[in-house]
Amino acid sequence: MEFDPQRLARARHLVVFTGAGVSAESGIPTFRDALSGLWEHFDPARLATPQAFRDDPTLVWGWYEWRRLQVRKAQPNPAHLAIAELARRLPRLTLITQNVDDLHERAGSLDVLHLHGSLHQPKCFACNRPYKGALPDVQMPQQGARLEPPRCGGCNGKIRPGVVWFGEALPQAILKQAFKAAGECDLLLSIGTSGLVQPAAQIPQLALEQGAAVLHINPQPQACLAPAEYQLTGPAGQRLPELLRQAFA
Ligand code: OAD
Repeated sequence: MEFDPQRLARARHLVVFTGAGVSAESGIPTFRDALSGLWEHFDPARLATPQAFRDDPTLVWGWYEWRRLQVRKAQPNPAHLAIAELARRLPRLTLITQNVDDLHERAGSLDVLHLHGSLHQPKCFACNRPYKGALPDVQMPQQGARLEPPRCGGCNGKIRPGVVWFGEALPQAILKQAFKAAGECDLLLSIGTSGLVQPAAQIPQLALEQGAAVLHINPQPQACLAPAEYQLTGPAGQRLPELLRQAFA
């Protein structure tokens, strides 16, 4: 069945749940897309675990600096802007993202729940203190270049990226807020995620179980849909602004 745009216009509490696909049209690679996905080209075991950082901190820090500066150069796309617009139009919106970029914030979204941390908030690997020093702004390291991580002003430990790595727990307070919003909302938009990474992937399921409708926006069609589940197939930067035009015409 087709999704009725009026359901969006009438939503009392909308949850927007995003993954890497929402930033794809800003030029930020996703993780699992064939050919272009980061995990097609890079081994997460060598780059995205605490052990990887212990073994080879300059490789890991260099890779995340390459990614951070890629984001610095990118701009929010029409999907990020449409989500910020939705927050202004609806009585309540909770934005939950798995993304570690800041494109939602730069599009004007407030109070974004970052389930997987942020490229822009590095912290000490030893004492966990947030890093207050400046990070370079313009010079883009070559892909694969090694960089020495800065040192913590408190304990002189090595500074690590502020993202959640494989084998690490998600920030519990943020996860709790995200689950609560998913359990209370009447509509959830799941945008640009493969839904393969737990526990984040439980969020749309939880909304469905609590009686909300779920709309997926993704170029890849969903394999099967529950009765209260809908999809718009295509790039979020096109499909989401189109949906807003129909909902608020
Ligand atoms: P994935 O790379 O697993 O999935 C990206 C999804 O975006 C796919 O379903 C694509 O079909 C879809 N997509 C691609 N282009 C799109 C577009 N223009 N508009 C809408 N959708 C598009 O990324 P995530 O689901 O975000 O974790 O991955 C989840 C987590 O796995 C990430 O947060 C990361 C990764 O390991 C950590 O870093 C902890």
